[in-house]
Amino acid sequence: MEKILIKKDLFCLPWTQTILGTHYEGRVNFMALDWLTRVNYQPPMLGICVNKAHASNVAIRDTGEFSVNVPSTDMVEITDCTGLVSGIHVDKSGLFEVFYGELKSAPMIKICPLTMECKVVQTVELPTNTFFIGEIINIYSEDQFLSDGEPDVKKINPFVLTMPDNRFWSVGECIGKAWNAGKTLRDRLREKERKL
Ligand SMILES: Cc1cc2nc3c(=O)[nH]c(=O)nc-3n(C[C@H](O)[C@H](O)[C@H](O)COP(=O)(O)O)c2cc1C
Repeated sequence: MEKILIKKDLFCLPWTQTILGTHYEGRVNFMALDWLTRVNYQPPMLGICVNKAHASNVAIRDTGEFSVNVPSTDMVEITDCTGLVSGIHVDKSGLFEVFYGELKSAPMIKICPLTMECKVVQTVELPTNTFFIGEIINIYSEDQFLSDGEPDVKKINPFVLTMPDNRFWSVGECIGKAWNAGKTLRDRLREKERKL
């Protein structure tokens, strides 16, 4: 098949849907967040990208703290709502009941199956966005979302976003085990090397 060029933007990959929690001008604020990535193994750090026009951007600069909350599929409506209106104009603090861990300005959402409190360790200024690198201070869940003490994707039931069609998708079936599924192929490669 011939390869064709498609539109060059950031939106050709699905991303995990989360909700960012901050303190904006002294009140709790939430924002739909997809631009997040793992950036360091130990200590565990996350990178999040927040547009400079958002209340959340101001909030993180002010406090140096934020939370990342993973909603489940039954929270699509309320998650989307946090991304439709700015805390600059509307008080979103009543949308969720929150709890706190060690950090004073990282409100976490009680009904989310997985929540993390993060402290900013580095800030990278980009033309339209700020890339905040946050160390994960603590992660919280509940027994009902774990299997053998680890987060269980079936129980957490997260969802992902695709763009530019702007659609949310639930996670499908397990199709293989990572660091395992490729072992037979790897062994064949090694075997070939040995014969050379
Ligand atoms: C599904 C969805 C995902 C979004 N992801 C991001 C994101 O990762 N980064 C960002 O800066 N804005 C993102 N936005 C836009 C903000 O959530 C939106 O502008 C929000 O109203 C900003 O709120 P705030 O001004 O209270 O911080 C997203 C919006 C939606 C609906």
